[in-house]
Amino acid sequence: MSTVDLVVVANRLPVDLVTGDDGVGRWQAAPGGLVTALAPALRDRGGAWVGWPGVPDAAPEPFTDPEVGDDVVLHSVALDAEEIAAHYEGVANATLWPLYHDLIAAPVYDRDWWETHRRVNARFAHAAAEVAAPGATVWVQDYQLQLVPRMLRERRPDLRIGFFLHIPFPPVELFQQLPWRTEVVQGLLGADLVGFHTPGGARNFRWLARRLCGADVDDSPIGLREAPGEVRLDGRTTRVGAFPISVDSWALAERGADATTAERAAEVRAGLGDPGTVLLGVDRLDYTKGIQARLEAYGDLLADGRLDPASTVLVQVATPSRERVDAYRRTREEVERIVGRLNGDHADLGRPVVHYLHRPLPPEELAPLYLAADVMLVTPLRDGMNLVAKEYVATRPDDSGALVLSEFTGAAEELTEAWTVNPHDVDGVSAAIADAAASGGTDDGRARMAAMRTQVREHDVARWVEAFLDALAGPDV
Ligand code: ADP
Ligand code: F6P
Repeated sequence: MSTVDLVVVANRLPVDLVTGDDGVGRWQAAPGGLVTALAPALRDRGGAWVGWPGVPDAAPEPFTDPEVGDDVVLHSVALDAEEIAAHYEGVANATLWPLYHDLIAAPVYDRDWWETHRRVNARFAHAAAEVAAPGATVWVQDYQLQLVPRMLRERRPDLRIGFFLHIPFPPVELFQQLPWRTEVVQGLLGADLVGFHTPGGARNFRWLARRLCGADVDDSPIGLREAPGEVRLDGRTTRVGAFPISVDSWALAERGADATTAERAAEVRAGLGDPGTVLLGVDRLDYTKGIQARLEAYGDLLADGRLDPASTVLVQVATPSRERVDAYRRTREEVERIVGRLNGDHADLGRPVVHYLHRPLPPEELAPLYLAADVMLVTPLRDGMNLVAKEYVATRPDDSGALVLSEFTGAAEELTEAWTVNPHDVDGVSAAIADAAASGGTDDGRARMAAMRTQVREHDVARWVEAFLDALAGPDV
């Protein structure tokens, strides 16, 4: 097998194998922010991407996909149905995901799942070791693969290993619930550089490295995009820093400025009945995204007349996600029940107050929606970053529009001019939506958007990749 100098290791490949109604398998863009952010970066640099193809037992030979780029070789890690249930649906999404998202759902701690999770992590480490050239850089991604850095270092001490966590790193009191907490911290300490979205996550991890592993840690402050801190253990140093991820701002701006996008946006608004105000939500259908909270807040505004049902429309696009995990099934039921109730209470014939699409949209359909929306609603109960917020801001061709943004997202640390909300406070969310809707065309509204557009342009995803890889390549410590 030919080896390469840059290897991305992620639970999923950037494309999923899906079988169409005709029974023919084809590759389709995988959901989520990790792929959105990393695929363009790797396309520019070339290398290998090691990941699971999204269905049981699939083990195609290494291949390329035109959407991902000819210089990115995709290496599949096969998982069988039992491994998907225990590693992906189990540990990743029924244990770690809720634990790292403030226990919005109750985490399940299952010892058999963990055995499988460990075995699957070892398989990813093995696959990465096979494809990495001597001295190569291997960049391991996200909470599903936290044991990989250490396993990989044991096999291949010559490699430069980075790890980035795309979700929040929890408060230490919550993390300590995890029965395998020391193993996770040791796993991450196999990396040369561990990156988080926020300084708080980096500081929590450093504290745990001292407490759980007896590591020697420095007490430097660790700020946003500042020099990483250091954790020393067993004669090695791991650096720990905050690298807030972003979007391909220039590509999004180009799409947003395109005449076709503007025409399609006008068609979308016309299709919605040319309402006075269009509100928009775009999310994976996940209980962390606070979709119910925003729907309830919108319902209150319609009920008390602060928004007029005859001239206001909310479009909610929700990508199906992790549909075999119980908490996700329940969330879908709740969201669909509330959508039904709001339309039942406030819609008129041919004029729903909520348009709900339960499917992913291609980028050429998403961009016109961002343009058509007067107010973007991003209300997660907890989110590592939230790229949708940045996409909305980056795609808009001018300083119109408004962003309602949960303070519990990583994005809120950077997009400070948004209409910030606590999504647990439904009255507060309603008030912010009303203010945001009224801000259109005002100096204050324009100044807020202008400041946020500058922020996402200055800090785009290319800069994030560069900052992480430069720090990883940085001085030996
Ligand atoms: P997460 O990684 O938790 O899914 P992010 O907001 O960080 O959340 O990233 C979500 C990514 O998925 C964004 O790039 C967004 O455009 C995309 N996305 C979310 N919902 C949809 C949808 N319904 N159709 C198409 N893309 C979507
Ligand atoms: O960072 C959040 C994340 O889990 C990513 O790893 C992934 O891109 C996205 O959400 C989608 O999740 P899944 O791979 O479970 O569909």
